[in-house]
Amino acid sequence: MSIATVKTEPIHGQKPGTSGLRKKTQVFMQRHYLENFVQAIFDAIGGAAGKTFVVGGDGRYFNDRAVQVILRMAAANGATKAIVGQGGILSTPAASHLIRLNKTDGGIILSASHNPGGPDEDFGIKFNMSNGGPAPESVTARMLEAANSMSEYRIHEGHDIDLSALGTHMVGDMSVEVIDPVADYADLMETLFDFDAIRAAIAGGIRIRFDAMCAVTGPYAVEILENRLGAPRGTVVNRQPLPDFGGLHPDPNPVWAKLLMDEMFGADAPDFGAASDGDGDRNMIVGPNTYVSPSDSLAVIAANAHLAKGYADGLKGVARSMPTSGAVDLVARAKGLDCFETPTGWKFFGNLMDAGRVSLCGEESFGTGSDHVREKDGLWAVLMWLNILAKREEGVADIMAAHFREYGRNYYSRHDFEGLDTAKAEALLSDLKGRMGDMPGLEIDGMTIASADIFKYEDPVDGSVSDNQGYRIVFGDGSRIVMRLSGTGTTGATLRVYLERYVPGPDGLNEDPQVALAPIISAARDLSGMAAHIGRTEPDVIT
Ligand code: G1P
Ligand code: ZN
Repeated sequence: MSIATVKTEPIHGQKPGTSGLRKKTQVFMQRHYLENFVQAIFDAIGGAAGKTFVVGGDGRYFNDRAVQVILRMAAANGATKAIVGQGGILSTPAASHLIRLNKTDGGIILSASHNPGGPDEDFGIKFNMSNGGPAPESVTARMLEAANSMSEYRIHEGHDIDLSALGTHMVGDMSVEVIDPVADYADLMETLFDFDAIRAAIAGGIRIRFDAMCAVTGPYAVEILENRLGAPRGTVVNRQPLPDFGGLHPDPNPVWAKLLMDEMFGADAPDFGAASDGDGDRNMIVGPNTYVSPSDSLAVIAANAHLAKGYADGLKGVARSMPTSGAVDLVARAKGLDCFETPTGWKFFGNLMDAGRVSLCGEESFGTGSDHVREKDGLWAVLMWLNILAKREEGVADIMAAHFREYGRNYYSRHDFEGLDTAKAEALLSDLKGRMGDMPGLEIDGMTIASADIFKYEDPVDGSVSDNQGYRIVFGDGSRIVMRLSGTGTTGATLRVYLERYVPGPDGLNEDPQVALAPIISAARDLSGMAAHIGRTEPDVIT
């Protein structure tokens, strides 16, 4: 093997965020940029010598080049083996599964998730540990440290390997096994869900529309929904993964999956609609004329998971990120399950799952999943819903209505203010922080503030503390406002404002969330002073 040790210098700003390092693709394509960070990953995990890694990504622009570089660097750093999805493709949940299935030392996943792809859009890279989950903060901190003192990286000098050819290849002394990216994942799904029941429901006439948004889940959804479950060809639309996602913004929410929404709210809508994101870990669930908010989806899954064979014995416990609505808490209470509240980001669920404390986790940002892998999982949520529909023999709207009647409804919405000047967004929050101490007891828009604080999490498993995890203002009736800055953006700052109001029922369960939340929205504007700080009060994206 011919190893080059390349002199380099630290590159400013290689700080992993909520989910790995995300930057503009052009930034990643700069000389030494990718190489420095990959070396920092290997340094942060105590080297690559003798180790096996899973490598793959969501197929976005630069994915193919990056995979070749990573393989050559892994070889030069002494790794013995890499398992790579054919064409360099792996969805994030499939990568997590492969790490666990093959008991590898971790994996490198290339994705900027739901952010657009292309030469002028976004790229990203993250490391997942041997449990299949995203590296915890202690490890990402070491990556940053390593990146900030980087002086050289090692790379094997050789030719590209043919990633389209299944089988074993060599990169220097390292073997590379190119595998079908879908098969193992699809097999795992068959162990969790009642494919026979779903197949029967589809044969009986349930019509499904799955929008893969020209992203990585296309081949997975075609194999599972069409080939294995018998849905008609064409059930999966935008099924071909493209380097620029066909110009789409592969984020499964009502704004970016508008075509799906239009179909589901139009005449002769299918019985069930769903979409997934760039790397396949997010999901959106829609019924005819019925949008299911991710927080509600989590609660419905918690209430019905026992209908799926992999969860027939009940859940170990549930967890949600702090800004996610409390709908799942009500189900947990009714079922006597432990319910944990964690900071934003899937990495915080890993310890709870590894310790056997929870089996179901979710975030308001279209993320739902279980301990079958250590990532959120878009198709898993879709199959769980199909399993529930098949077993209950009810439609999405009926299931939601019954759920709200039983538990009450947590009206919920997230308002995103994008492309803000970072200093101004930070000033808004620090000003808010300064006033929080005086807020309890304050009356605003007819509501009284009960508490105001900044969320701090102490991991119940390893005791690690993560502070500054979001500003929250809670009212006497449990309604709340949460504010935090996004940790996944690549330009400027994004302020996320999360709004929640609980209505116990039986009346008032059927309102438009934006109407039901109007007083909370107005209080959020007033309390944050957003007009003065950022010069606007209307969000860019409402989900
Ligand atoms: C966003 C979501 C968060 C999710 C993350 C990765 O992070 O809000 O729930 O875990 O993407 O998919 P944010 O941009 O808010 O930091
Ligand atoms: Zn994603």
